[in-house]
Amino acid sequence: MNNDIERVLIDEKQISDAVKRLGARITEDYKEKNPLLLCVLKGSLVFHADLMRVLNFHCETDFIIAKSYGAGAQSSGELKILKEPDINIKGRDVIIIEDILDTGVTLSALLHTLQARKPASLKTVVFLDKNSGIEKPVKADYKCFDTENEFLVGYGLDYAEKYRNLPYIGVLKRKIYSI
Ligand code: IMP
Ligand code: MG
Repeated sequence: MNNDIERVLIDEKQISDAVKRLGARITEDYKEKNPLLLCVLKGSLVFHADLMRVLNFHCETDFIIAKSYGAGAQSSGELKILKEPDINIKGRDVIIIEDILDTGVTLSALLHTLQARKPASLKTVVFLDKNSGIEKPVKADYKCFDTENEFLVGYGLDYAEKYRNLPYIGVLKRKIYSI
């Protein structure tokens, strides 16, 4: 599996340092609240699990699976929710946890859909913000890293459902995803 990786972009130590720093910021902002952490599956599962363990306040956690069929980066896109959260978000302080913000179509559609359910507040956390060269319809409230426009795997991110279990973020060799 490691042989399919061109290079390690973000190693385990850099990840854990960044997650701790982010956790301290979110703890400061939310320590008086009891937010709901909404993990966007599947890509965010590893990040979500690490982040929740560095938050020093009571919180609840839930999961959502969504697919967007956006017409383009400027559109908020049409969102299909494949798995609904169990917890009612009305009146709650909700934090969406996403793996990667690429075009922003998915997150923008998700925000639009969830905002209609009248949460008390709705913020977004992304592990990676990819510089795809096009303007995004949405910005993350919190993020760990900015990256260049390369195809990345590991730490929850997949290519054809593989590589999610790599403990680092790696650039996939071109020959793998051109097969
Ligand atoms: P967006 O709607 O273009 O922002 O799509 C974001 C989603 O695309 C992420 O949640 C990922 O599931 C997927 N994605 C975007 N870039 C990558 C990548 O480099 N590796 C793996 N998945 C990616
Ligand atoms: Mg995703």
